[in-house]
Amino acid sequence: MSELSGQVSRRRTFAIISHPDAGKTTLTEKLLLFGGAIQLAGAVKARGEQRRAHSDWMKVERERGISVASSVMTFDFEGKTFNLLDTPGHEDFSEDTYRTLTAVDSAIMVLDAAKGIETQTRKLFEVCRLRDMPITTFINKLDREGRDPFDLLDEIEQTLALDVTPASWPIGMGRDFLGCYDLLADKLVLFGKGAKGGLPDEGETCNGLDDPKLDELLPAYAVTKLREEVEMVRGLCPPFDIESFLEGHLTPVYFGSAVNNFGVREILHGIAERAPTPSPQPTASRNIMPDEDKVSAFVFKIQANMDPKHRDRIAFVRLCSGHFKRGMKLKHVRTAKIMNIHNPVLFLARERELAEEAWPGDIIGIPNHGQLRIGDGLTEGEDLRFTGIPSFAPEHLQNARPDDPMRAKHLGRALQQLAEEGAASVFKPMVGSDWIVGAVGPLQFEVMADRIRTEYEVPVHFEPTSLYTARWVEADDHLALKKFVDANTGSLAEDHDGAPVFLARNAWHLDRAGEDWPDIRFLKIKEHVD
Ligand code: G4P
Repeated sequence: MSELSGQVSRRRTFAIISHPDAGKTTLTEKLLLFGGAIQLAGAVKARGEQRRAHSDWMKVERERGISVASSVMTFDFEGKTFNLLDTPGHEDFSEDTYRTLTAVDSAIMVLDAAKGIETQTRKLFEVCRLRDMPITTFINKLDREGRDPFDLLDEIEQTLALDVTPASWPIGMGRDFLGCYDLLADKLVLFGKGAKGGLPDEGETCNGLDDPKLDELLPAYAVTKLREEVEMVRGLCPPFDIESFLEGHLTPVYFGSAVNNFGVREILHGIAERAPTPSPQPTASRNIMPDEDKVSAFVFKIQANMDPKHRDRIAFVRLCSGHFKRGMKLKHVRTAKIMNIHNPVLFLARERELAEEAWPGDIIGIPNHGQLRIGDGLTEGEDLRFTGIPSFAPEHLQNARPDDPMRAKHLGRALQQLAEEGAASVFKPMVGSDWIVGAVGPLQFEVMADRIRTEYEVPVHFEPTSLYTARWVEADDHLALKKFVDANTGSLAEDHDGAPVFLARNAWHLDRAGEDWPDIRFLKIKEHVD
């Protein structure tokens, strides 16, 4: 095997999706712990502080105590290299959260055992489904009373229309939680050992569920119940099938308790063994295979002012093929200019670390002054146009107004730049002089106002609108689109690329437009193309 193929086959690039409070932060920390990227002792104690320090770059973040920025964590486990891309799961999250999911090959879905599927889990799952992404499920907080495991599996299957198969099975719950039986590795892992201090042991390998060892290690009632439940669940769920998992149709489900380090090793092992290696990347002309020699990469996220000391923007770039080395000259496809990538960064925790090299599946940060935009491709010469990097119709729309009306032009410029960066959707209505700004979560408006004030020196405020939602409009027939636009100028706007957008006042208005104009497509998602 060539070095490139070897590096590709050991890469696992993934994200965690969850509803706030399900335990994503805790699981992330524990994955890093098992991956040796952080140390046990300091980790737990320093956690709050670390989190604050990490998000130091923005005042709003500090005030709110949450991290709006996504970051990338790299660690090794069982001979594999993992890139974990953080997707903020809080209610106020941005389009970046969604877009980060276009840069990973699989995801862990964390559920709280007491709550099951919640709204945010569902939204994020739907984004994963757009790409048929393989999902591994972690049902967390088994150390507390939660819902019946059968009920939880059923809910995943019903609400997400996804086949489920248990990868492990819990023995008891809450105060009676004894541990899990790992159904894929045939191992009994007991809860309690090292629960608070060290890591739980690796478990006892068994010869199936009939192994008399189980009778020695567990109380009689628990073994009987385990055997009965596993028989039942095997009757109800399909067996694990790798093809079906990789096609995004089946999710293996692990049970555990992240805060107690329990079930973490098993899920990490599952990802190492079964989660996909970097996938081929679609472009307008062809699929790029990761083991192609030539380097190719695309920008999926832009972040400004990550560090007040560096007043630049960082483009987060996912490497799709080839062996990247620092100092390489790459073609920026959109402008056909050559860029010398002499100072790429890897995001290891908080530190900015110079990346000497990177392989497919890895993420590098490229500092720049605004040349790089979301969806842009970098290649060794080929004109590749990456597809599948979407913009999502914002769920919140507000008017942006400068505190000083004389500064309207400056505000326009700031908004245009933020839109290019992907920090917001910005729409200029065809009638009137307002700017409509769209966001996925309401906190984004505050973040934006703060940035516009500090970076562009334009004091600005946002005001609610009576608008319901925005849809990009498209038609096969150019004239049909023009006719629609002419008849609806009062409800139309242009996005920062000049693409037409329909601003609906309410659900009825949107439905009605759809019925009246059958030739027009009303799109919730717009793909970035060069
Ligand atoms: P999030 O990133 O998904 O929002 O969740 P986070 O990890 O911050 O966890 C939310 C809360 O759930 C935290 O409690 C955390 O300690 C707790 N938690 C995580 N995993 C488990 C688990 O396996 N069992 C139990 N019982 N609790 C768990 P908190 O009180 O909000 O914060 P903290 O003060 O403990 O940090």
